Amino acid sequence: MEKDKQLRNKIIQRLKDCELQDDNRVAFHLTPPVGLLNDPNGLVYYKGKYHVFYQWNPFETKHTFKCWGHYSSKDLIHWEEHPPALVPSEWYEKDGCYSGSAIEYNNMLYLFYTGNVKTEEGGRETYQCLAVSEDGIHFDKKGPVIHLPEGYTPHFRDPKVWQQENKWFMVIGAQTTSLDGTVVLFSSDDLEHWQMEGPLAGNGISLPNEFGYMWECPDFFYLNNMDILLVSPQGLKTEPFKYENLFQSGYFIGEWDLMENTFVHGEFSELDHGFDFYAPQTFEDRSGRRILIAWMGMGDEQEQSHHSIKSGWVHALTIPREIYLKDGSLYQKPVEELKQLRKNPKSETITIANEQMEFPLDSELNEVFIDIEQFDGKQFEIQLQNNCKLIFNNEKGILTLERKSFDQGNLETRQCKIDKLQNIHMFLDRSSLEIFINDGQTVFTSRFYKDTVENQCVITVEGKSKFTWENWSLHSYQINNLKS
Ligand code: FRU
Repeated sequence: MEKDKQLRNKIIQRLKDCELQDDNRVAFHLTPPVGLLNDPNGLVYYKGKYHVFYQWNPFETKHTFKCWGHYSSKDLIHWEEHPPALVPSEWYEKDGCYSGSAIEYNNMLYLFYTGNVKTEEGGRETYQCLAVSEDGIHFDKKGPVIHLPEGYTPHFRDPKVWQQENKWFMVIGAQTTSLDGTVVLFSSDDLEHWQMEGPLAGNGISLPNEFGYMWECPDFFYLNNMDILLVSPQGLKTEPFKYENLFQSGYFIGEWDLMENTFVHGEFSELDHGFDFYAPQTFEDRSGRRILIAWMGMGDEQEQSHHSIKSGWVHALTIPREIYLKDGSLYQKPVEELKQLRKNPKSETITIANEQMEFPLDSELNEVFIDIEQFDGKQFEIQLQNNCKLIFNNEKGILTLERKSFDQGNLETRQCKIDKLQNIHMFLDRSSLEIFINDGQTVFTSRFYKDTVENQCVITVEGKSKFTWENWSLHSYQINNLKS
């Protein structure tokens, strides 16, 4: 208890001392008030509010200390910052309250998370832990509920819990002792006692071959009559148009036989093709929507070159996206609520042929929708804020996102294949860009740092195109900060 209090006081002091503003700070995305944010955790709709917890290091912009930061909102637009939900005060979590999930039961909120412990010998121990709350703000720790089973290394973490047929289930991201990434399933009748059902997916279980050395942050849910496993595998080798980041996040669609605990699924598809997207988590809200939020970041070699580090913070979460299955793919669509941020609508229908056209943007915060009615030609290119470009090569069916790297300033790209370019829906914040292509079938999420004060978008068409351009300036999120 004493350690808990001390840590909380230290964090509150840190919040009081920190400066909250800088030019790169995103305005309609959740960020850490100070320090480093990574995975979204414990996403849940509880007692009339959306709760978003996240991996947070308030003390520095590195992956050292980890507690659970906390925001809540009634409408996904007005947010309230709360004191950290979990701080690493107990022996079983002394080196971090790692990622996990939340579930409501009997009016109480249950958080499941991984207690990370570094041993004196340089090793690691992990415990899946439980904390319970009556108000969604203050949590009572119940300690470990699952210890490391045989056959797995201590890379065993990120419990995601759901309820089905009067039982609770949990998937955990794991590494087998033969160093294969895998997902393990547990079940429970009371949320406190858990029984291992066995591995659910991975090499030799649901896949014929090796597929990464560790699978992080699994999520398993039923959507549009299929079972879907989201997972963030580490160790996939880059292939043409695939796996271009250090780590990937994607999904398997299949059918889960609960009695046999078999999950027969198709191929892995990436959820996003941009530079900064990892560890997504989903939840279902009261209206039955399945909403996804991800870490809009990547713990790669560029992490320490983010320009915001000099202002004492790094990373943000994505905007919330509703997901659904269509024609065998997971589509992502910005949640309806975001329309409340819109102001100053502009719209025009244009035909251009082998030319460039400038679209000045009224503000730094923008939503742009381009509906392509007709396009015959070689290339459709959208340049944003001087140092980001989306290029569609029609002959090759290749979509490229280009940005200026944070460290060297050189141009770097991410690519994927699509058949046709039909529409482009973009959310442009001060230093982030989320692009939903063809109704959200293909998504690119990236951070960038602009080097001009002008806000602009330039479209260049090689060939001929008729399209409708719609643009709104956006309001910021309203955040009630603990500091204020
Ligand atoms: C994913 C991850 C999780 C872990 C957490 C620690 O980014 O490595 O597996 O629980 O971050 O912050």
